[in-house]
Amino acid sequence: MTLYIATNNAHKVKELAELFPGIPLRTPADAGIEFDHDETEDSFLGNSLGKARALFGLVKAPVLADDSGLCVDALGGAPGVRSARYGSPDDGRTVLSARDKNELLLREMEGRRDRTCRFVCAMTLMLSEHRFVTVQETCEGRLLESSRGAEGFGYDPVFFLPGEGLSMAELSLERKNRLSHRGRAAARILAVLASLPD
Ligand code: IMP
Repeated sequence: MTLYIATNNAHKVKELAELFPGIPLRTPADAGIEFDHDETEDSFLGNSLGKARALFGLVKAPVLADDSGLCVDALGGAPGVRSARYGSPDDGRTVLSARDKNELLLREMEGRRDRTCRFVCAMTLMLSEHRFVTVQETCEGRLLESSRGAEGFGYDPVFFLPGEGLSMAELSLERKNRLSHRGRAAARILAVLASLPD
C-alpha cells in the first residue's frame, strides 16, 4: 500500500522513510500537489487529523499525517503546537530559522531550573474518509542551556536525553528513530497496518 505523507518537510520525509521500510511513501510534491495546510487547531491530535483529512480530500488514497512539536513545562507547554512558527506572528509569512528558534527558546529559559520538556507526535493513518486511527506519543527530556550536535533538525540540538547522556542532535538517525516521539508513534501505526486484512 502506498501512503501519501502530509508533509513537505525534507527532514520528516527522511525519518518517515526509515520508519516505514518497504512501504512506498509519496509526498504531495511527488504527486504534483501543492499542499500547505494551516494548522489552526490547539492540539497535535486536531492538527494531525486536519492534515490527514485535507490531504485525503485531494488524493483519495491512504494518507499518513504527522503533527509534532516540543512542549516545555516551565513555559506552560510552549512552543507546543506553534513549534514550527515559534517566535513569528501567526500570519505565516515569516518563520524563524531553526537556529533562531533555538536561541529564542534558550533565552526565554535563561536562569530557569525546571527544564523538563517533551517532544510530542500525533500521527494519523487515514485509510478512507471514515476509517482512520490517530496515535500520540512522546519523548521525555530536558532543555539544554546551549545547543549540542549537528544531526537531526528543529529543536534536536537543545533537547537532552538523560538516558543517553546526549542531545537528540548527537544521535544517529537510527538511534533517534528508536527513541523519538515520531519513532514511537510510527511503531504503533505499523502495528495497525500489520493487523489490517489483505
Ligand atoms: P509541524 O509538525 O510540521 O507542525 O512542525 C513541527 C515542528 O516541531 C518542526 O518544524 C520542528 O520545529 C519541531 N519538531 C517536530 N519534530 C521534531 C523533531 O523530531 N526534532 C526537532 N524538532 C522537531
